Amino acid sequence: MTHQIVEAKDYSYLLGNLEGFGDELLKQHFELYNGYVKSVNEINTKIAQLTQKKGNPSYSEYRSLLSFKAFPQNGVVLHEFYFSNLSSKKTQPSEKLLHFINQEFNSFDKYINDLKEAAKCTRSGWVILSYDERQIKIQHSVIDLHDEHVPLLNIPLLVLDVWEHSYTLDYGINKAAYLDAFINNIDWEQVSKRLENVCTHDIC
Ligand SMILES: [Fe+2]
Repeated sequence: MTHQIVEAKDYSYLLGNLEGFGDELLKQHFELYNGYVKSVNEINTKIAQLTQKKGNPSYSEYRSLLSFKAFPQNGVVLHEFYFSNLSSKKTQPSEKLLHFINQEFNSFDKYINDLKEAAKCTRSGWVILSYDERQIKIQHSVIDLHDEHVPLLNIPLLVLDVWEHSYTLDYGINKAAYLDAFINNIDWEQVSKRLENVCTHDIC
């Protein structure tokens, strides 16, 4: 059986370019992301090499590999959304994105406030702003670790890493200061483009 190798993407262009994000913090974060890529490849290789895929809900090697892979696999995807929605460019949300923001949060300022409050709800995990294909709306969700409470049919638009490794090197336990730095570096053009790519409903 063949299996595809996941390749890590290069986000080194962010080094020295994000106000409020030290190079050492970013380098460690890239290293952590690379570790998840490696784990995904290891698990996929092990699945491909299984000579006998025996199913069992209590325990089997196949079940362990299938269930464990969600953690590194989502870890890769979430980090890629996160790094690529950061930029030093000063950008604005598109009209379409503002339409959805106003619909759900009433104003852009209230949206930003909601983002901060959602971030306070996290343990070791993430906040995502996603486009819900079933409900035709955008919404915030909190994902613990990388794979708990993941909303189905929701395409990430903006992804915020709130694991402590994403800020403690620069900010200690001052999560609020990290959130301000993150918000100042959001690439709204990228977030708007993601919405454009997934929203095909008439309302859009
Ligand atoms: Fe992270």
